[in-house]
Order: sequence, then C-alpha cells, then structure tokens
Amino acid sequence: MTLDPRATVYVETYGCQMNVSDSELILGKLAAEGYRPVDVPEEADVILLNTCAIRDHAEQRVIGRLGELKRSMRAGSVMGVAGCMAQRLGPELLTKARHVSLVVGPDGYRALPELLARARGGERAVQTSFDLEEHYEDFAPRRFDKVKAWIPVQRGCDYRCTYCIVPFTRGAERSRAMADVVREARQVVEEGIGEITLLGQTVNSYNDGTHDFAELLRAVGAVPGVRRLRFTSPHPNDFSDAVIEAMGDVGAVCEHVHLPMQSGSTAMLKRMLRRYSREEYLECVARLRARIPGIGLTTDVIVGFPGETDDEFEETLSAVREIGFDDAFTFKFSPRDGTPATRMPPEWTIPDEVAAERLGRLIDVVRSGARSRNLGLLGQRREVLVEKPARRGDLLQARSRDYKTVLIPGDASMVGSYLTVELTGTTGSTFTGTVVQERRSLPVAV
Ligand code: SAH
Ligand code: SF4
Ligand code: F3S
Repeated sequence: MTLDPRATVYVETYGCQMNVSDSELILGKLAAEGYRPVDVPEEADVILLNTCAIRDHAEQRVIGRLGELKRSMRAGSVMGVAGCMAQRLGPELLTKARHVSLVVGPDGYRALPELLARARGGERAVQTSFDLEEHYEDFAPRRFDKVKAWIPVQRGCDYRCTYCIVPFTRGAERSRAMADVVREARQVVEEGIGEITLLGQTVNSYNDGTHDFAELLRAVGAVPGVRRLRFTSPHPNDFSDAVIEAMGDVGAVCEHVHLPMQSGSTAMLKRMLRRYSREEYLECVARLRARIPGIGLTTDVIVGFPGETDDEFEETLSAVREIGFDDAFTFKFSPRDGTPATRMPPEWTIPDEVAAERLGRLIDVVRSGARSRNLGLLGQRREVLVEKPARRGDLLQARSRDYKTVLIPGDASMVGSYLTVELTGTTGSTFTGTVVQERRSLPVAV
C-alpha cells in the first residue's frame, strides 16, 4: 500500500526519558517513511500518544487526553496509542477509547508504517509482542533537543520490584552492543551536541555480553567532543567498584547521580524486593561520595507501600535527612494490576489519608534538606550549559554538572553555550546566577 506522501504525524509523550527517546525513534522512523511531523494535533493525519503505565494517575491522564484529542481529529485521521500503557492494556484500549485504531507496545515500532497503513485503511491494528533483539539500530532518531541527547543503551528490566509494572510493559533486559552506542555518541557530537545521557531502567547493569557499564562509560567518555556524560537510572546494587572508578576517572562523567532509594527501611525494602538493605544503600552513597567529592544526589521514594508502619516511614525520613539529597521525586504507592504487591494481605493496605499525610511530611523533609544544602552553595562557581529560555521572564535556564538548575540573564542566542556562573541566589530548589566574566589570558610575549 502506498502512503499519502503529504501525511502528517503528531506525537505526544508521557512518562520517563526512555519514552522521550522512543518518541524520537518513532518520529525518525516515520519521517524516513515520508510522514511530516507537525506540532499541533489539528494538523495531523496521525495522532500518537506515547504513554506511561507506572502509576494509575499516569494512565488516567492519558485516558483524559485521548478524550480531549478526539475533538482535534479531522476526517480520515487516525489515533494511536504507543508505549507502556499500550503494552499493558493491548486490545482492551480499543474498547476503552473507541476512536483509537492503533495500539503498539515499546518493541513494535519497526512495524509502525505497516500498522499505520492498516489503521488508515480502516482497520484496527494491535501489536504488543516483545522482541528481545530489538534496539532500533537502523532508525535515525529525530532529536527534540538541540543541546543534549538521550542515548538508550538498554531496554527492559530484569528486576522484579514488587510494586513495579515496568518488567511487564518493557519485557526482559537487553543491552545494545557497545560499538553501536559509541557510534551514536559520535553522531551526536557531529550534530553539535556535547551532553549525552545514557538511558536504561537499571542502566548500570548494562552488559552487552563483552562489555560492562564501566567499560561503556570509558568508551563513550573517550569520544572526542563528549563534554558531559550522564546516565539514568542506575540501581544501587549495580554500582560495582569498577563503575564508580570509571565515573571518577572519566572527565566527562558529571558529578551527579539519580539513585532511587524507594524506602529507608530494610524490612520495607525487602517487601519491595529491592535487593538491598538500608545499610547497603547508605554504603553505596558513601562509596560514591568518597570517589566523587561533592557529587549531587537525587532519588525516588515511595510512601504508603503495603504494610508500611509508622516506624518504617520514620526510617525513610531519617535516611533522607542523613543522606541529604539534592532533590527527590516522591510518590504515593499506586497498585498496578498483576504486580506482586497487589497480592499482599489486604490488611496491609495503607489508607489514602495516611499515605497523603506521609507524602506531605516527606516532601517537607526533602525540601528543607535541599534548601539548607543549596544555601551553603551560594557564592560558589559552576560551569553551566544553557539549555533553553526559562519559563518566566527574560531569563535562560542553565544546568550545572551537579544537576543544579541556574537561571541567568541572557538571550536565546546563548542556548547551547557553556559558561561559568556564580550562584547568587536560591529559591531553596533552583538558583539564580551571574555570568562570571572569564579573564582572558594575555598573549605571551616571546
Ligand atoms: N528503573 C528505575 C525506576 C523506574 S520507575 C529504578 O529502578 O530506579 C520511576 C519511579 O517510579 C520508581 O523509582 C518508583 O519510585 C516509582 N514507582 C514505580 N512503580 C510505582 C508504583 N506502583 N507506585 C508508586 N510509585 C512507583
Ligand atoms: Fe521497576 Fe524495579 Fe525494574 Fe526499576 S528496577 S524498572 S523499579 S522493576
Ligand atoms: Fe512509564 Fe514505561 Fe517509563 S511505565 S516510567 S514510560 S518505562
């Protein structure tokens, strides 16, 4: 079937960085097939939502948005759902939202042109099988960002944290060949991008059969022009000494780690099947801090997981205080169908008002810890990368290597440049800064 060469596609992305990266691959693939990406759904022949299933709230947002977007559809356009929610619900989505005619899971994007042709021909197409070989190696991603790039190095997850839907939506863990990752890093540099973030659900368990994550960091860090190297999300258990050594040795690796903790209670971590204790987590933090002094640390924490006692929650608060995170994403536990947590005794269920109260207290502790850390940084200097115009005012949003957001004065022509700034003010979470005029070295007389 030949496609209309003027067909347009609009993609909206929910969920984690992995989905952002997948949307870049989807758009790259469809552009190569003759589709023209557009920025508004009203102009699209194909509307795609790349979705997340991590919490019920994430799915409700998508359901709501599907309803809204129905009004943007024009005669002959099709609506498709991709990503984790598509994988989790499969054909059920077709009955939940009758105007949806395409459902495709994270391993199915190679078939998108054909699935779309079917959907545009009036069929309803569903593709949710896993493909453990799939890395979309021959796709040319259409990158949204001009100053930093996501590079997926691993798909799927082999952990089985008892609350988590990801192993069901993304399948088993597999790593890309190191040579392919390095090749993509070179391309990114050629496109003029100096900051790379390596992506995987437990990115530091990367192993392509020959090379581990420490070797990958060294190889990507050695690509000329890679100025900043980040990765997300690592699992505490996979921080081998070799990985931490590589982080310390490789100049491009930034001084920041997002290290999901989930809970500060060993008993709770056991019920979550996180496979580390409170002490092991603290020890991981200590090893990182010993090798990379001043490293920024952020985390994820869940409250209200089944059976969470007051004492266990207090242990989470004390761990957050003791570690002094720079920031934390905090979540109320959301039961996901089919995960082991849903089979725990019903009397373990934490009432919503208790979970909400705990979440509020946790957020207060996170904020006050971050605030006092950030106040202590005022007057220091940082190299920042100017990322984009800030949301408000005529300021620019810039990012330090240790992952602090710094707002600086300037105009859009500065986006993409690396500058040295002095941290002059903080809201408690973000900074304002002034650009430090670097003193030029005088020519040396000979
Ligand atoms: N692979 C990453 C996490 C991916 S999901 C890791 O292991 O660190 C991002 C975060 O969502 C998790 O760290 C967890 O804090 C949160 N999360 C996952 N499932 C959840 C659930 N059922 N309810 C609430 N929060 C959840
Ligand atoms: Fe989910 Fe755990 Fe895998 Fe992270 S490591 S994606 S939390 S199962
Ligand atoms: Fe959501 Fe899937 Fe990412 S469930 S968090 S989009 S892996």
